[in-house]
Amino acid sequence: MGKNLGFQLMSVLLLAGVITKTGGSLPRPKLTGPSIAYVKSTVMFECKLSETLSPLTYELVKDSGEVLQTTDDSQGGQPITFSLRVNEKSEGQYYCRVRARGQTITSHALIFEVVIPVRGTHLVSDPDPPVIYEGKRFTLSCHVSKGTHLAYIWYHNKQKVTSPSSLHRLSGNTLTVDRATESHAGYYVCTATNQMGNISRASSSLEVNVVVKKHLSAPTLSFTLYHYGSGYHANVSCRSERGSPPVKFQLLLDGKDVPVQQEGPLEAWFTLPVNVGMDMGTLQCRAENDVQQLLSDPKDLEVVPVRRPSVVVEYLQTADYVVAAALLQCSINSGTFPLFSWSFNHSSLPSQGHSHAFTLHGKSLILTDINASNSGYYSCRVRDSFNSNSSWLESEGVLVEKTDFKMPSVAVIAVAFCCFLLAIIVGGACCLLWSIKHERNQDGGNNQDVDSQEQTNTEADRTMLETGSEPQAEETDTVVVEVEV
Ligand SMILES: *[C@@H]1O[C@H](CO)[C@@H](O)[C@H](O)[C@H]1NC(C)=O
Ligand SMILES: *[C@@H]1O[C@H](CO)[C@@H](O)[C@H](O)[C@H]1NC(C)=O
Repeated sequence: MGKNLGFQLMSVLLLAGVITKTGGSLPRPKLTGPSIAYVKSTVMFECKLSETLSPLTYELVKDSGEVLQTTDDSQGGQPITFSLRVNEKSEGQYYCRVRARGQTITSHALIFEVVIPVRGTHLVSDPDPPVIYEGKRFTLSCHVSKGTHLAYIWYHNKQKVTSPSSLHRLSGNTLTVDRATESHAGYYVCTATNQMGNISRASSSLEVNVVVKKHLSAPTLSFTLYHYGSGYHANVSCRSERGSPPVKFQLLLDGKDVPVQQEGPLEAWFTLPVNVGMDMGTLQCRAENDVQQLLSDPKDLEVVPVRRPSVVVEYLQTADYVVAAALLQCSINSGTFPLFSWSFNHSSLPSQGHSHAFTLHGKSLILTDINASNSGYYSCRVRDSFNSNSSWLESEGVLVEKTDFKMPSVAVIAVAFCCFLLAIIVGGACCLLWSIKHERNQDGGNNQDVDSQEQTNTEADRTMLETGSEPQAEETDTVVVEVEV
């Protein structure tokens, strides 16, 4: 390379004709060399003059005049090279200065940058530690203990974060999330790299775990009853459906704190003595984390025993009024903890059957495929679930029977009646018309009259069709008769 340059320089000098200036001003020297280099490498700067002068003194000068190296050139004509061991402070502007015959002239500046290999990459989070609630902002900054001319690569749960990213905002050495969601949680790593030519260096940070906490949902309050010692106790539960632990639950009975019995991550239990049939006060539950405080709806701590139930029947029909199923509901006016069972013709009904099923914890009974074998009297029974000694209270039996048709509603009867009336009117009119025509035909009939008679009949038919489904009206009539029978 140096040889080559030398050769080129020689050619230039030969072409220009070597002139040795003996007077006038000095020509401006030219400084060439690399513009960027790694620290601890050695670089060469070359200073040359377009003319051969001698004797000369060359100086390598940095920034505001610090002279780094001086070389005396006795022969002249040869470019001067300065070799420089690059350190972290080598970055700056370099000049070549030439002195001869009491004159000094300086080259243009050469800007030289120093690449410090990256190392000591670490992440700094804001907030620190990186624990935030949903919807909040967080920033991770990638810092290095050493290194210049850096580029940054981010990884979220081992996946490279591409730029632009739909989840993250990358800028310089920072990664920002403006509104954190659960999808932003996880492990982050940043890798800082510097590259020069085809040599690149990289340094990665340790993983930083970003925790995105869920907001707390309002707690719900419920209780069960259990027998203990000589009486009953309520096992009160306070529970939030959503939220990130730790959550503190407190139970208040008429505003007074009840000590906690047992705790889970999103639920706590409390126990309180209860007298059945008595209002023990109002319960309310409070759930709290470091940023929220939420109250449940108030609930009375009262256990009411069950009373005698009744059964409400609802028939479910297909589009053509065939009874497909019956829904029997056990209706109770009171009872906080009812336990249901059903009986058919005075014997207990198993919870599983091929044409019946219980729903709503036995409160409802669905009968499908009603036939002769499951037609009969159904009744529901109820007792307090917390007291295994209590006896069943039974409703009156209701008769469920196989029926092919639905009992017609008032509207259907009305429509059927109207159709029937219309049929009579139209029929009557036809008879009247026919008898008149018949009389006329007897007087002196012709073909035209027969035609018009046929036309009238056709018109009457059409009227019937337009009034809507004459056959259905007949069917409905049959239903009325059957029901009456
Ligand atoms: C209250 O109910 C919870 C959940 O069923 C149970 O884990 C806990 O042991 C009960 N506490 C008492 C005192 O019965
Ligand atoms: C049921 O009756 C037995 C015997 O009379 C009694 O020892 C027990 O405590 C009762 N259980 C309840 C839940 O009342």
